[in-house]
Amino acid sequence: MFYELLKERRSIRKFMDTKVEKEKIDIILKSALLSPSSRSRRPWEFIAITDMEVLEKLSLCREHSSAFLAGAPLGIVVIADQDACDVWIEDTSIASIIIQLAAQSIGLGSCWIQVRQRYHTEDKKAEDYIKEVLNIPDKYSVECIIAIGYPAESKSPAREEDLKYEKIHLENMKRVDIL
Ligand SMILES: Cc1cc2nc3c(=O)[nH]c(=O)nc-3n(C[C@H](O)[C@H](O)[C@H](O)COP(=O)(O)O)c2cc1C
Repeated sequence: MFYELLKERRSIRKFMDTKVEKEKIDIILKSALLSPSSRSRRPWEFIAITDMEVLEKLSLCREHSSAFLAGAPLGIVVIADQDACDVWIEDTSIASIIIQLAAQSIGLGSCWIQVRQRYHTEDKKAEDYIKEVLNIPDKYSVECIIAIGYPAESKSPAREEDLKYEKIHLENMKRVDIL
């Protein structure tokens, strides 16, 4: 059930050495291409990386929050042509979570690494560092990298009793007692 999948998805930052099979990479990438997109502009592009040396370089894109990418067998860099769509951030974000859920549905773990608005060093953007490593042309923006692999850590699924029910409103903002 999709709801169970959502509860079981947790951010996984430790991965087994096992490679991700090509068939599974294909399923994940085709799922990304099925993402809804404003005005069907589809401004996104996806760069799938399995080369360990490149993954290691990319793991340095942020000072701390991206280090675990060095231990992942697969990273998908999500980029967009900003000029192709004014809501490219929404489009790339939707595609990114679809990548994560597609990975989850076939037994893989994943974690989002934020790139947009983040820095490699004090005066260099994470995005510029990644563009240099991957030769990404100037016109593209980098939203994030999704690290993917077979989980080497287990995390408890989300518990219904921990959900923030106070964030749900029925009919108007005053009522909170709906669930
Ligand atoms: C937009 C976004 C940016 C994130 N950036 C990072 C990141 O740079 N590094 C990281 O380790 N986790 C990152 N995460 C993962 C969150 O830390 C994680 O989703 C959150 O702690 C909830 O845990 P869960 O995914 O296990 O439910 C990001 C998640 C989202 C949605």
